[in-house]
Amino acid sequence: MRTLVLMCSVLTLAACSQGASDEESARIIDILEISAGQAAADIGAGSGDYSAVMAEAAGSAGHVYATEIDVGSLASMRDRFATSGNVTVVEAQVNATGLDPGCCDAVLMRNVFHHLTESDAVVSDIYENLRPGGRFLVVDFDPTWVLSLWTPEGHDAHGTTLDTVRGAGTSAGFRVERVFDEWDRPGLEGLLMNHHATLLVKD
Ligand SMILES: C[S@@+](CC[C@H](N)C(=O)[O-])C[C@H]1O[C@@H](n2cnc3c(N)ncnc32)[C@H](O)[C@@H]1O
Repeated sequence: MRTLVLMCSVLTLAACSQGASDEESARIIDILEISAGQAAADIGAGSGDYSAVMAEAAGSAGHVYATEIDVGSLASMRDRFATSGNVTVVEAQVNATGLDPGCCDAVLMRNVFHHLTESDAVVSDIYENLRPGGRFLVVDFDPTWVLSLWTPEGHDAHGTTLDTVRGAGTSAGFRVERVFDEWDRPGLEGLLMNHHATLLVKD
């Protein structure tokens, strides 16, 4: 059994390390309504794959802030976006995004919520980072045994529920605009984990 868990986990991590999928990228840009000239943030950007997608949609008149807490990811994103012109890499804290109030029209948090140890503080900060009418998309997956070997520190399980995301969002002042019970992911990730997404709006 342990070998099976290990094999599935390795396969899943391999699937997770693929770059941004074209189909999911298009869906994210569409739902967040990112267009030329807008400012957006990618919270917990990792390698920056989705920050790059958002930067392309925002264009040279727009801007993307790619935040991270991990020093290795911060360094590699600084290299990656050194000549981009419209991406700024920002160091986050466990309880704060590191972004200015009213900096953004749209915020993406993809596969990060379940890592947060101070989710209420971070979601409240994102509420402040957004301008009125701003959109905040949280993509995550239900707690799963497949990734149990990598359960983030301070958590009981790897993953989070829609209810948890919804609760954090409404407590911070957001309105729930749309809920996606199922969020298609290509490959093994889609097979092994049930992804979901929540679109929150600051009125
Ligand atoms: C599974 S990765 C997701 C990366 C990327 N968003 C993606 O979808 O490919 C989770 C990332 O969240 C980052 N992270 C965890 N807590 C964070 C926080 N409080 N602020 C910013 N980033 C955080 C981790 O360092 C890690 O790179």
